[in-house]
Amino acid sequence: MPTVSIIYFSGTGHTTKLAEAVAKGAASVAGVKANLIAISGDDIVKGRYQNDAVFTQLDASDAVIFGSPTYMGGPAAQFKAFADATGAKWYAGAWRDKIAAGFTVSSGPSGDKLSTLHYFFTLAMQLGMIWIGLPELPMNDRGINRLSSYSGVMAQAGQEPVDIAPNAADKLTGELLGRRVGEYAVKLKK
Ligand SMILES: Cc1cc2nc3c(=O)[nH]c(=O)nc-3n(C[C@H](O)[C@H](O)[C@H](O)COP(=O)(O)O)c2cc1C
Repeated sequence: MPTVSIIYFSGTGHTTKLAEAVAKGAASVAGVKANLIAISGDDIVKGRYQNDAVFTQLDASDAVIFGSPTYMGGPAAQFKAFADATGAKWYAGAWRDKIAAGFTVSSGPSGDKLSTLHYFFTLAMQLGMIWIGLPELPMNDRGINRLSSYSGVMAQAGQEPVDIAPNAADKLTGELLGRRVGEYAVKLKK
């Protein structure tokens, strides 16, 4: 059974909601298992992320989807600490040919979210992974990909009341990315 893991950090819960939507999309593909993993700040000791159980799950995954809020124009420090800990995987070529994708949430419509997605892309390329983008056109009446991002999913937190954001359209966009990754995980497993 192909496994799609979604590894993400969320400070105040918006990214968690988007991560859940992405997982829902991946799990909607027949035979795909979606595995949500939250990055905990408690696993960062003296600036270094360490959690062997998390890396065991990621090693066993066919696809890894990265998620973080955009903080100061890039991924949150907690996500970056996790990313730095993938250095051992880079050295061993352990994640080569796994599928990768990404999503981010921030307050503004732009908020420099593209920098975060491009960081995820660079990380995936360093690790030899295969990047899956988001081909959804924004010209639709459901708000799918309304922020017009093709590198990965962008969602906005600042527009809706805090307990609602990201809105249904952004979550649906996340779901579609998750489904696409799930479909490619199945294709690659054949
Ligand atoms: C330290 C910090 C930096 C932030 N930087 C940005 C930013 O560069 N652009 C933006 O649009 N929003 C920015 N925000 C807003 C967050 O991206 C937004 O609140 C997001 O929904 C947080 O996600 P979370 O609820 O998953 O933690 C920042 C928030 C914090 C706490």
